[in-house]
Amino acid sequence: PGPIKYINCLLTAAMYFPGLEGVVVKETKICHIDLENSKIYYRGYDLEELAQYSTFEEVAYLLWFGKLPAGAELERFKAELMMYRKPPEHVDEAVKIAPKNAEPIDVLRTAVSAMALGEDLSDRSPEAELVRGLKITAAMPYIVASFDRLRRGSQPLHPGEAKSHAEYFLWALRGERPGEREVRALDVMLIIYAEHSMNNSAFTAVTVASTLSDMYAAITAAIASLKGPLHGGANVDAAKMLEEIGDAKRVESWVDQQLSRGRRIPGFGHRLYKKGPDPRLRVLRKLARDLASEKGDFKWVELAERLEEYVTAHLSQKGIYPNTDLYAAVIFKYLG
Ligand code: ACO
Repeated sequence: PGPIKYINCLLTAAMYFPGLEGVVVKETKICHIDLENSKIYYRGYDLEELAQYSTFEEVAYLLWFGKLPAGAELERFKAELMMYRKPPEHVDEAVKIAPKNAEPIDVLRTAVSAMALGEDLSDRSPEAELVRGLKITAAMPYIVASFDRLRRGSQPLHPGEAKSHAEYFLWALRGERPGEREVRALDVMLIIYAEHSMNNSAFTAVTVASTLSDMYAAITAAIASLKGPLHGGANVDAAKMLEEIGDAKRVESWVDQQLSRGRRIPGFGHRLYKKGPDPRLRVLRKLARDLASEKGDFKWVELAERLEEYVTAHLSQKGIYPNTDLYAAVIFKYLG
Protein backbone atom coordinates (compact mmCIF):
# COMPACT_ATOMS: atom_id res chain seq x y z
CA PRO A 1 0.00 0.00 0.00
CA GLY A 2 1.02 3.59 -0.74
CA PRO A 3 2.04 4.85 2.75
CA ILE A 4 4.17 1.73 3.55
CA LYS A 5 5.91 1.94 0.19
CA TYR A 6 6.60 5.62 0.91
CA ILE A 7 8.12 4.84 4.36
CA ASN A 8 10.23 2.04 2.83
CA CYS A 9 11.53 4.46 0.22
CA LEU A 10 12.47 6.97 2.91
CA LEU A 11 14.27 4.28 4.94
CA THR A 12 16.18 3.03 1.91
CA ALA A 13 17.20 6.58 1.03
CA ALA A 14 18.34 7.18 4.60
CA MET A 15 20.43 3.98 4.56
CA TYR A 16 22.12 4.52 1.22
CA PHE A 17 25.84 5.29 1.57
CA PRO A 18 27.37 5.89 -1.89
CA GLY A 19 30.76 4.18 -2.13
CA LEU A 20 30.26 2.90 1.46
CA GLU A 21 31.34 6.36 2.65
CA GLY A 22 31.37 6.38 6.44
CA VAL A 23 30.33 2.72 6.71
CA VAL A 24 32.35 0.76 9.27
CA VAL A 25 32.57 -2.89 8.18
CA LYS A 26 35.22 -4.22 10.53
CA GLU A 27 37.53 -3.35 13.41
CA THR A 28 41.27 -3.81 12.97
CA LYS A 29 44.39 -3.68 15.13
CA ILE A 30 46.63 -3.74 12.08
CA CYS A 31 46.42 -0.17 10.84
CA HIS A 32 45.32 3.19 12.20
CA ILE A 33 44.98 6.26 10.02
CA ASP A 34 44.99 9.44 12.12
CA LEU A 35 43.54 11.99 9.72
CA GLU A 36 43.60 14.79 12.31
CA ASN A 37 47.37 14.59 12.73
CA SER A 38 48.21 13.25 9.25
CA LYS A 39 49.76 10.04 10.58
CA ILE A 40 49.57 6.34 9.74
CA TYR A 41 50.35 3.60 12.25
CA TYR A 42 51.01 -0.09 11.58
CA ARG A 43 50.22 -2.07 14.75
CA GLY A 44 50.82 1.10 16.77
CA TYR A 45 54.16 1.98 15.11
CA ASP A 46 54.51 5.27 13.25
CA LEU A 47 54.85 4.39 9.54
CA GLU A 48 57.43 7.14 8.97
CA GLU A 49 59.67 5.58 11.64
CA LEU A 50 59.18 2.12 10.15
CA ALA A 51 60.12 3.51 6.72
CA GLN A 52 63.25 5.03 8.22
CA TYR A 53 64.48 2.30 10.53
CA SER A 54 63.00 -1.05 9.48
CA THR A 55 62.93 -3.38 6.48
CA PHE A 56 60.05 -4.82 4.48
CA GLU A 57 60.58 -8.24 6.08
CA GLU A 58 60.33 -6.75 9.59
CA VAL A 59 57.19 -4.85 8.63
CA ALA A 60 55.57 -7.92 7.03
CA TYR A 61 56.30 -9.87 10.22
CA LEU A 62 54.88 -7.03 12.32
CA LEU A 63 51.66 -6.88 10.28
CA TRP A 64 51.15 -10.65 10.32
CA PHE A 65 52.27 -11.56 13.83
CA GLY A 66 51.55 -8.33 15.74
CA LYS A 67 55.10 -7.65 16.93
CA LEU A 68 58.47 -6.78 15.48
CA PRO A 69 60.65 -9.89 15.11
CA ALA A 70 63.60 -10.57 17.40
CA GLY A 71 66.89 -11.55 15.68
CA ALA A 72 66.30 -15.30 15.32
CA GLU A 73 62.62 -14.83 14.40
CA LEU A 74 63.59 -12.45 11.62
CA GLU A 75 66.22 -14.82 10.27
CA ARG A 76 63.74 -17.71 10.24
CA PHE A 77 61.09 -15.56 8.56
CA LYS A 78 63.53 -14.40 5.86
CA ALA A 79 64.64 -17.98 5.27
CA GLU A 80 61.00 -19.03 4.79
CA LEU A 81 60.41 -16.20 2.30
CA MET A 82 63.55 -17.27 0.42
CA MET A 83 62.37 -20.90 0.37
CA TYR A 84 59.11 -20.02 -1.38
CA ARG A 85 60.48 -17.52 -3.91
CA LYS A 86 60.20 -19.92 -6.81
CA PRO A 87 56.53 -20.89 -7.31
CA PRO A 88 55.44 -24.42 -8.35
CA GLU A 89 56.33 -25.51 -11.90
CA HIS A 90 52.80 -25.14 -13.30
CA VAL A 91 52.76 -21.47 -12.19
CA ASP A 92 56.05 -20.92 -14.00
CA GLU A 93 54.50 -22.55 -17.09
CA ALA A 94 51.41 -20.31 -16.86
CA VAL A 95 53.68 -17.23 -16.88
CA LYS A 96 55.69 -18.63 -19.81
CA ILE A 97 52.63 -19.15 -22.03
CA ALA A 98 51.12 -15.72 -21.30
CA PRO A 99 51.00 -13.55 -24.46
CA LYS A 100 53.88 -11.06 -24.39
CA ASN A 101 51.52 -8.11 -24.76
CA ALA A 102 49.60 -9.02 -21.60
CA GLU A 103 49.47 -6.52 -18.73
CA PRO A 104 51.93 -7.61 -16.00
CA ILE A 105 49.25 -7.25 -13.32
CA ASP A 106 46.97 -9.60 -15.27
CA VAL A 107 49.78 -12.16 -15.41
CA LEU A 108 50.31 -11.75 -11.65
CA ARG A 109 46.58 -12.21 -10.97
CA THR A 110 46.49 -15.36 -13.13
CA ALA A 111 49.65 -16.77 -11.53
CA VAL A 112 48.39 -16.22 -7.97
CA SER A 113 45.12 -17.91 -8.94
CA ALA A 114 47.10 -20.81 -10.43
CA MET A 115 49.00 -21.24 -7.14
CA ALA A 116 45.84 -22.78 -5.66
CA LEU A 117 45.80 -25.59 -8.24
CA GLY A 118 47.01 -28.88 -6.87
CA GLU A 119 47.45 -27.63 -3.30
CA ASP A 120 45.54 -29.38 -0.55
CA LEU A 121 43.45 -26.51 0.84
CA SER A 122 41.66 -28.57 3.50
CA ASP A 123 43.70 -27.25 6.46
CA ARG A 124 42.07 -23.88 7.12
CA SER A 125 43.82 -23.11 10.41
CA PRO A 126 45.28 -19.58 10.79
CA GLU A 127 48.76 -21.15 10.71
CA ALA A 128 48.08 -22.84 7.35
CA GLU A 129 46.58 -19.64 5.92
CA LEU A 130 49.65 -17.68 7.04
CA VAL A 131 51.90 -20.09 5.16
CA ARG A 132 49.76 -19.52 2.05
CA GLY A 133 50.09 -15.75 2.52
CA LEU A 134 53.83 -16.19 2.86
CA LYS A 135 54.02 -18.31 -0.30
CA ILE A 136 52.10 -15.70 -2.31
CA THR A 137 54.22 -12.82 -1.01
CA ALA A 138 57.45 -14.73 -1.61
CA ALA A 139 56.56 -15.73 -5.18
CA MET A 140 55.33 -12.37 -6.48
CA PRO A 141 58.74 -10.88 -7.39
CA TYR A 142 59.70 -13.98 -9.38
CA ILE A 143 56.36 -14.02 -11.22
CA VAL A 144 56.46 -10.33 -12.22
CA ALA A 145 60.18 -10.33 -13.06
CA SER A 146 59.91 -13.57 -15.07
CA PHE A 147 57.12 -12.19 -17.20
CA ASP A 148 59.01 -8.95 -17.80
CA ARG A 149 62.14 -10.86 -18.84
CA LEU A 150 60.15 -13.17 -21.14
CA ARG A 151 58.42 -10.29 -22.88
CA ARG A 152 61.83 -8.67 -23.45
CA GLY A 153 63.14 -11.88 -24.99
CA SER A 154 65.27 -13.22 -22.12
CA GLN A 155 64.81 -16.12 -19.74
CA PRO A 156 63.45 -16.04 -16.16
CA LEU A 157 66.10 -15.75 -13.49
CA HIS A 158 66.10 -16.99 -9.90
CA PRO A 159 68.90 -15.13 -8.06
CA GLY A 160 68.27 -17.23 -4.97
CA GLU A 161 71.16 -15.73 -3.00
CA ALA A 162 69.59 -12.23 -2.91
CA LYS A 163 69.20 -11.39 0.76
CA SER A 164 66.00 -9.33 0.77
CA HIS A 165 62.68 -9.28 -1.04
CA ALA A 166 63.55 -5.90 -2.62
CA GLU A 167 67.02 -7.01 -3.73
CA TYR A 168 65.59 -10.24 -5.15
CA PHE A 169 62.98 -8.40 -7.22
CA LEU A 170 65.39 -5.89 -8.78
CA TRP A 171 67.98 -8.60 -9.44
CA ALA A 172 65.41 -10.97 -10.98
CA LEU A 173 64.18 -8.13 -13.22
CA ARG A 174 67.54 -6.87 -14.38
CA GLY A 175 69.73 -9.93 -14.33
CA GLU A 176 72.40 -8.10 -12.36
CA ARG A 177 72.92 -7.24 -8.73
CA PRO A 178 71.25 -3.88 -7.94
CA GLY A 179 72.93 -1.06 -5.99
CA GLU A 180 72.34 -0.74 -2.24
CA ARG A 181 70.49 2.58 -2.48
CA GLU A 182 68.13 1.22 -5.12
CA VAL A 183 67.40 -1.81 -2.97
CA ARG A 184 66.68 0.43 0.01
CA ALA A 185 64.39 2.65 -2.11
CA LEU A 186 62.31 -0.35 -3.21
CA ASP A 187 62.34 -1.68 0.36
CA VAL A 188 60.82 1.61 1.56
CA MET A 189 58.21 1.48 -1.21
CA LEU A 190 57.22 -2.03 -0.09
CA ILE A 191 56.87 -0.78 3.50
CA ILE A 192 54.80 2.21 2.40
CA TYR A 193 52.45 0.06 0.27
CA ALA A 194 52.22 -2.85 2.73
CA GLU A 195 49.04 -1.76 4.47
CA HIS A 196 46.37 0.93 4.25
CA SER A 197 43.40 -0.21 6.27
CA MET A 198 40.15 -1.02 4.43
CA ASN A 199 40.98 0.22 0.94
CA ASN A 200 39.20 -1.24 -2.10
CA SER A 201 41.52 -4.22 -2.62
CA ALA A 202 41.64 -5.11 1.10
CA PHE A 203 37.84 -4.84 1.25
CA THR A 204 37.59 -7.12 -1.79
CA ALA A 205 39.90 -9.70 -0.20
CA VAL A 206 37.92 -9.64 3.04
CA THR A 207 34.63 -10.02 1.14
CA VAL A 208 35.93 -13.13 -0.65
CA ALA A 209 37.53 -14.57 2.50
CA SER A 210 34.30 -14.07 4.44
CA THR A 211 32.59 -16.76 2.35
CA LEU A 212 35.31 -19.19 3.51
CA SER A 213 36.69 -19.28 -0.01
CA ASP A 214 40.50 -19.60 0.06
CA MET A 215 43.59 -17.41 0.45
CA TYR A 216 44.56 -17.63 -3.25
CA ALA A 217 41.02 -16.69 -4.28
CA ALA A 218 40.95 -13.71 -1.91
CA ILE A 219 44.30 -12.37 -3.10
CA THR A 220 43.42 -12.99 -6.76
CA ALA A 221 40.28 -10.89 -6.27
CA ALA A 222 42.27 -8.21 -4.42
CA ILE A 223 44.72 -7.96 -7.34
CA ALA A 224 41.76 -7.60 -9.72
CA SER A 225 40.53 -4.68 -7.62
CA LEU A 226 43.99 -3.15 -7.32
CA LYS A 227 44.42 -3.08 -11.09
CA GLY A 228 41.82 -0.35 -11.59
CA PRO A 229 43.10 3.11 -12.57
CA LEU A 230 41.22 4.65 -9.65
CA HIS A 231 43.23 2.43 -7.25
CA GLY A 232 46.67 0.77 -7.70
CA GLY A 233 46.57 1.18 -11.49
CA ALA A 234 46.99 4.91 -10.89
CA ASN A 235 50.77 4.56 -10.53
CA VAL A 236 50.98 3.11 -14.04
CA ASP A 237 48.88 5.99 -15.36
CA ALA A 238 50.96 8.47 -13.37
CA ALA A 239 54.14 7.08 -14.98
CA LYS A 240 52.54 7.38 -18.44
CA MET A 241 51.52 10.96 -17.57
CA LEU A 242 55.11 11.89 -16.62
CA GLU A 243 56.34 10.50 -19.94
CA GLU A 244 53.61 12.27 -21.90
CA ILE A 245 54.29 15.65 -20.28
CA GLY A 246 58.04 15.09 -20.59
CA ASP A 247 59.13 18.49 -19.22
CA ALA A 248 58.17 20.51 -16.13
CA LYS A 249 57.53 23.50 -18.43
CA ARG A 250 54.63 21.66 -20.07
CA VAL A 251 52.79 20.86 -16.83
CA GLU A 252 50.38 23.79 -16.91
CA SER A 253 49.20 23.37 -20.49
CA TRP A 254 48.88 19.58 -20.06
CA VAL A 255 46.85 19.83 -16.85
CA ASP A 256 44.62 22.61 -18.24
CA GLN A 257 43.89 20.48 -21.30
CA GLN A 258 43.05 17.38 -19.24
CA LEU A 259 40.76 19.28 -16.91
CA SER A 260 39.01 21.09 -19.78
CA ARG A 261 38.25 17.63 -21.22
CA GLY A 262 36.81 16.53 -17.88
CA ARG A 263 39.64 14.03 -17.25
CA ARG A 264 41.18 13.14 -13.90
CA ILE A 265 44.84 13.65 -13.13
CA PRO A 266 46.42 10.32 -12.06
CA GLY A 267 48.18 10.41 -8.69
CA PHE A 268 45.77 12.99 -7.26
CA GLY A 269 42.73 12.63 -5.03
CA HIS A 270 41.99 10.16 -2.28
CA ARG A 271 38.88 8.94 -0.54
CA LEU A 272 40.38 9.73 2.90
CA TYR A 273 42.81 12.60 2.40
CA LYS A 274 40.54 15.53 1.60
CA LYS A 275 42.21 18.14 3.82
CA GLY A 276 45.81 17.72 2.79
CA PRO A 277 48.21 15.38 0.98
CA ASP A 278 48.59 11.70 1.82
CA PRO A 279 50.93 11.51 4.88
CA ARG A 280 53.12 8.96 3.07
CA LEU A 281 54.22 11.73 0.70
CA ARG A 282 56.58 13.09 3.38
CA VAL A 283 58.64 9.91 2.94
CA LEU A 284 58.17 9.58 -0.81
CA ARG A 285 59.09 13.13 -1.81
CA LYS A 286 62.41 12.78 0.00
CA LEU A 287 63.03 9.32 -1.43
CA ALA A 288 62.37 10.61 -4.96
CA ARG A 289 64.79 13.53 -4.43
CA ASP A 290 67.49 11.21 -3.00
CA LEU A 291 67.21 8.85 -5.97
CA ALA A 292 67.33 11.80 -8.39
CA SER A 293 70.57 13.02 -6.74
CA GLU A 294 72.00 9.52 -6.85
CA LYS A 295 71.24 9.25 -10.58
CA GLY A 296 72.16 12.89 -11.28
CA ASP A 297 68.85 13.26 -13.12
CA PHE A 298 66.18 15.56 -11.67
CA LYS A 299 63.76 15.50 -14.60
CA TRP A 300 61.07 13.24 -13.13
CA VAL A 301 61.14 14.57 -9.60
CA GLU A 302 60.96 18.19 -10.79
CA LEU A 303 58.07 17.31 -13.07
CA ALA A 304 56.16 15.71 -10.17
CA GLU A 305 56.90 18.66 -7.87
CA ARG A 306 55.58 21.10 -10.47
CA LEU A 307 52.48 18.92 -10.97
CA GLU A 308 51.90 18.83 -7.23
CA GLU A 309 52.16 22.61 -7.01
CA TYR A 310 49.95 23.37 -10.00
CA VAL A 311 47.22 20.77 -9.48
CA THR A 312 47.00 21.53 -5.74
CA ALA A 313 46.63 25.25 -6.48
CA HIS A 314 43.73 24.46 -8.81
CA LEU A 315 41.96 21.55 -7.13
CA SER A 316 42.62 21.74 -3.38
CA GLN A 317 39.37 23.65 -2.89
CA LYS A 318 37.67 20.40 -4.04
CA GLY A 319 39.74 18.35 -1.57
CA ILE A 320 42.13 17.05 -4.25
CA TYR A 321 45.77 16.65 -3.18
CA PRO A 322 48.56 14.38 -4.43
CA ASN A 323 48.49 10.72 -3.37
CA THR A 324 51.27 8.11 -3.08
CA ASP A 325 51.02 7.08 -6.71
CA LEU A 326 52.38 10.37 -8.03
CA TYR A 327 55.76 9.96 -6.33
CA ALA A 328 55.68 6.16 -6.59
CA ALA A 329 55.67 6.65 -10.36
CA VAL A 330 58.73 8.90 -10.06
CA ILE A 331 60.55 6.40 -7.84
CA PHE A 332 59.70 3.45 -10.11
CA LYS A 333 60.94 5.43 -13.11
CA TYR A 334 64.28 6.05 -11.39
CA LEU A 335 64.43 2.34 -10.52
CA GLY A 336 63.89 1.52 -14.18
N1 ACO B 1 41.80 14.88 -10.96
C1 ACO B 1 40.82 15.81 -11.20
N2 ACO B 1 39.63 15.82 -10.54
C2 ACO B 1 39.44 14.87 -9.62
C3 ACO B 1 40.41 13.90 -9.32
C4 ACO B 1 41.62 13.93 -10.03
N3 ACO B 1 42.59 13.03 -9.82
N4 ACO B 1 39.92 13.08 -8.35
C5 ACO B 1 38.68 13.54 -8.05
N5 ACO B 1 38.39 14.61 -8.82
C6 ACO B 1 37.16 15.41 -8.78
C7 ACO B 1 35.97 14.64 -9.33
O1 ACO B 1 35.87 14.80 -10.72
C8 ACO B 1 34.83 15.25 -8.56
O2 ACO B 1 34.56 16.52 -9.12
P1 ACO B 1 33.05 17.09 -9.19
O3 ACO B 1 32.61 17.19 -7.75
O4 ACO B 1 33.19 18.41 -9.87
O5 ACO B 1 32.26 16.07 -9.97
C9 ACO B 1 35.43 15.52 -7.19
O6 ACO B 1 36.84 15.67 -7.40
C10 ACO B 1 35.19 14.40 -6.21
O7 ACO B 1 35.50 13.16 -6.85
P2 ACO B 1 35.09 11.73 -6.27
O8 ACO B 1 35.23 10.69 -7.33
O9 ACO B 1 33.77 11.83 -5.60
O10 ACO B 1 36.19 11.53 -5.16
P3 ACO B 1 36.50 10.21 -4.41
O11 ACO B 1 37.10 10.62 -3.12
O12 ACO B 1 35.35 9.30 -4.39
O13 ACO B 1 37.60 9.53 -5.37
C11 ACO B 1 39.64 8.76 -6.22
C12 ACO B 1 38.88 9.21 -4.98
C13 ACO B 1 38.92 7.59 -6.89
C14 ACO B 1 41.02 8.28 -5.77
C15 ACO B 1 39.76 9.94 -7.22
O14 ACO B 1 40.36 11.03 -6.57
C16 ACO B 1 40.51 9.60 -8.48
O15 ACO B 1 39.92 9.09 -9.43
N6 ACO B 1 41.87 9.90 -8.53
C17 ACO B 1 42.68 9.61 -9.70
C18 ACO B 1 43.17 8.18 -9.67
C19 ACO B 1 44.16 7.93 -8.54
O16 ACO B 1 45.17 8.61 -8.39
N7 ACO B 1 43.89 6.88 -7.75
C20 ACO B 1 44.81 6.43 -6.68
C21 ACO B 1 44.19 6.52 -5.34
S1 ACO B 1 45.33 6.01 -4.08
C22 ACO B 1 45.37 4.31 -4.19
O17 ACO B 1 44.37 3.71 -4.45
C23 ACO B 1 46.64 3.58 -4.04
